[in-house]
Amino acid sequence: MKSNAKHWDRIFDKTKDARLGWYEEKAAPTLALMAKIPEWKSPRVFLPGAGTSVLIDALLTKGARLILNDISSAALDRVKERHTDKRDAIHWLCKDISQPVPVDVPAADIWIDRAVLHFLTDKDTIEGYFKNLKDVLRVGGHAVFAEFSEHGAPKCAGLTLHRYAVGELSERLGESFDLVSQFDHTYLNPNGDPRPYIYTMYRRIDG
Ligand SMILES: C[S@@+](CC[C@H](N)C(=O)[O-])C[C@H]1O[C@@H](n2cnc3c(N)ncnc32)[C@H](O)[C@@H]1O
Repeated sequence: MKSNAKHWDRIFDKTKDARLGWYEEKAAPTLALMAKIPEWKSPRVFLPGAGTSVLIDALLTKGARLILNDISSAALDRVKERHTDKRDAIHWLCKDISQPVPVDVPAADIWIDRAVLHFLTDKDTIEGYFKNLKDVLRVGGHAVFAEFSEHGAPKCAGLTLHRYAVGELSERLGESFDLVSQFDHTYLNPNGDPRPYIYTMYRRIDG
């Protein structure tokens, strides 16, 4: 099945957050990577597929300015309900991240992808994703990826995945990105099933 807005809206409409197959109570592994970023002063953070993640809340608490994108308006509506007080402080986007982002999207200091990129399975959509990342992330900024590893399940949310090793991420980002940190992490989904992820963080050193 192809990843599309209706597919994701249906999932978010019928599933409570804590039952989503990727739900985290705390976004601890992502926050551990971000703790390695030296200059943290109200950074602008772009989430390409924010979902309803608790990471959003953690970042707002830390004073980040957010650009929240998701292909699913149902997911974004749920986040809007949770943050009625902060609605105006967030730049909302409801786009397929493999397609060009609007030109008025502000440059980001940090790009954080947990379990989004791996849903893009064909060459054009993957290339479109990385073009967006390079258009949006400023030089000196950081990109964080948490994707199903090559040892991970072949499917999630009913969709076939393109699983990642660090080598492929580094290759797609190119020489203008330095690998800062990487680790394996086995996430347990709400049914208790292990889901091996790779976590990586890169720093953009050049345009
Ligand atoms: C597995 S969930 C992860 C959500 C969130 N990052 C988290 O860690 O809780 C994947 C998310 O990516 C969104 N998504 C899937 N394909 C997308 C695409 N092509 N463009 C933007 N968002 C997409 C889905 O709607 C969903 O919110």
